[in-house]
Amino acid sequence: MEFATTNLESCYHENISLSADGTAVVILDQTLLPNEERLIELRGADELYEAIYSLRIRGAPAIGIFAAYALYIFALGLPPCEPAAFREQTLGFSARLCSARPTAVNLARQLQRMETIVRKHGNAPRADQLAAMKGEAEAIRCEDIEMCRAISEHGLTLIGEGQGVLTHCNAGPLATSRYGTGLGAILLARERGINLRVYCDETRPLLQGARLTVYELMKAGVDCTLICDNMASIVMKEGKIDAVFVGADRVARNGDAANKIGTSGVAILAKHYGIPFYVFCPSSTIDPDCASGGEIVIEQRPPQEISQLYFEKPIAPAGAKCYNPAFDVTDSSLISAIVTEGGVHRGPYDFSDKEQ
Ligand code: MRU
Repeated sequence: MEFATTNLESCYHENISLSADGTAVVILDQTLLPNEERLIELRGADELYEAIYSLRIRGAPAIGIFAAYALYIFALGLPPCEPAAFREQTLGFSARLCSARPTAVNLARQLQRMETIVRKHGNAPRADQLAAMKGEAEAIRCEDIEMCRAISEHGLTLIGEGQGVLTHCNAGPLATSRYGTGLGAILLARERGINLRVYCDETRPLLQGARLTVYELMKAGVDCTLICDNMASIVMKEGKIDAVFVGADRVARNGDAANKIGTSGVAILAKHYGIPFYVFCPSSTIDPDCASGGEIVIEQRPPQEISQLYFEKPIAPAGAKCYNPAFDVTDSSLISAIVTEGGVHRGPYDFSDKEQ
């Protein structure tokens, strides 16, 4: 696809890179945003795993890209050993990284790509194996940048001057390698002089909407308004919303889409008010092996995220029973279109072929 000259630099974060000496992955620690923009260097196995688990790096595409670099950095740090031991330890760490977050398919998919490289170059000299792994991680990152650019262009065809968009969670540059998916079109609109009004769900319990989406949109100069999750209905009823834009962590063959907890409720509200509900994702988020949303594993997170985190004092009685699923699945019948780098897909969906 050909693009008009674009420049989304206003909101570009170098959020996944290698350190100057090449021995660490450098990320912007998203748990500290928006109060502190701190780059952290990660090289040990435990800290690489923890960065995904604790959402220092988050968003389906971003964790896939990060994991690819993390596996390379882990392999780089292995002491001299036989090729079989090198392969075994690297594949073992890949399995561990993959277990950090089960819902986002990008994590498993990009690690599978890295594992293929490890197996393919299994008997090559160590330096050649490492060069191949580094090259693959870089390719994954570059592909994501191009996919997000294309998604943003397609997304821009769905909105117009003065319209209101509701977002949930964060599907911006922080969640990818550069432009974002659900926010990509909004940023592109800003760049092209199209004025939008964006309402951002705060997104309980980890507040990615309040902390990250509003941070990104304010940085880019987009007119954005923060609302609590339970205000989505009123802003829709008041006529403030013309479209809902969300990302996805895994899209099943039939178009059912897993995304941040609360997304399916927003989709149900949108249907009630007759507002189009759009899902944006790269084809690496589509899982053709998953027939429908019922097969998607939903990540469960610690109860403290609901009962304590982000509050000065715990807000629930000690020991309160909590249920903390991190994602839910939006039924494909509620989705007006799924936007990938290949275009705007409308139902009935059939993603048997993942090159969409
Ligand atoms: O738990 P998170 O913050 O990783 O959840 C992220 C989301 O749900 C995003 O909407 C999704 O990954 C799409 S990111 C382009």
